[in-house]
Amino acid sequence: METKVYDINENNPDLSILKCAAKVIKSGGTVVFPTETVYGLGADALNPEAVLKIFAAKGRPQDNPLIIHVAHTNIEKYVREVPKSAQLLMDKFWPGPLTIIMKKSDVIPDVITAGMDSVAIRMPSNKIAGKLIELSEVPIAAPSANISGRPSPTNIKHVIDDLLGRVDVILGGGRTNVGLESTVIDVTGRPTILRPGGITLEQLKAVLGEVFIDPAIMKAADENLKPRSPGMKYRHYSPKAFMYIVEGEQKKVINKINELSLKSKNEGLKAGILATDETIKKYLNGYILSMGSRENTDTIAASLFDRLREFDELNVDVIYAESIPEEDIGLAVMNRMKKAAGYNVIRV
Ligand code: TXA
Ligand code: MG
Repeated sequence: METKVYDINENNPDLSILKCAAKVIKSGGTVVFPTETVYGLGADALNPEAVLKIFAAKGRPQDNPLIIHVAHTNIEKYVREVPKSAQLLMDKFWPGPLTIIMKKSDVIPDVITAGMDSVAIRMPSNKIAGKLIELSEVPIAAPSANISGRPSPTNIKHVIDDLLGRVDVILGGGRTNVGLESTVIDVTGRPTILRPGGITLEQLKAVLGEVFIDPAIMKAADENLKPRSPGMKYRHYSPKAFMYIVEGEQKKVINKINELSLKSKNEGLKAGILATDETIKKYLNGYILSMGSRENTDTIAASLFDRLREFDELNVDVIYAESIPEEDIGLAVMNRMKKAAGYNVIRV
């Protein structure tokens, strides 16, 4: 398949390109577009045949439901009811990196929800995404625009590496801000976070009071806990190398990673080290990259997936990564890191 690639400026988007892309959506094709979290691989959410193309392009299992993206908050058509909690969340966080799960209405095809009776909805704040959805005049179903299992794309190069020739259109729009996917919250019962992301637990609690976390998020290494968000059960975000997270007091972590990377070197292995701005100078062996600053963990969220892909390009055999505290955006960062590492955590 021939893929048309366009680079556009979010602050001054070329409307004629967006109109073309909207036409592709309306006629059942696939369009990759930037959002504030990660790039999405979109198709008309109300057209089951178009939606099937998303699964095919990504190699995604069909039992993993998709998020529908909207350009406004009047979502009554797509849900059975809008619970009060959902209204409060939409008022506060939309447009933005929050996906809300509600009971679905009959217009949502089963292929979107993997046969479940709930649907995930989000209104992105990226202007290219918003305009594309508006011009398409339908909600756009979109998972992250990566081949299933790889780190989500945060710039157009990642998208091209994974999807060139597999989709109709790629719209580039610079580097995504947040760098991690949206928070998924289920409000069909008591409000429960199914995936930590761009909006933090603390922010959600400030609006709703009590907010629960799906226990499977914290302990997903335990196979017996079945996550309520089907996508959370798959191996994800994986670099090609084996990855280990080293957790503990900072000095001990640095010593341990230096010891492990020297050992790898002596065994003839190429080691990568995922450090932070504050610690990067303390490492001695291997390919050392910083994922951002501990003083501003948003920078870590924004860079993590890019660094994991960089290690792939460097062809490292093993990655040793520092951990960060699981608070604020750190909860989402560590969730993605642990999945990338297949839950290999070394405590020192
Ligand atoms: O930031 C994001 O959310 C990005 C951008 C493109 O918007 N999208 C994204 O989509 O991350 P995806 O498909 O990679 O992740 C959607 C997650 C999956 O874990 C899926 O299982 C879950 O949401 N999900 C979707 N519908 C659901 C439902 N009805 N019930 C429970 N979980 C659901
Ligand atoms: Mg994804």
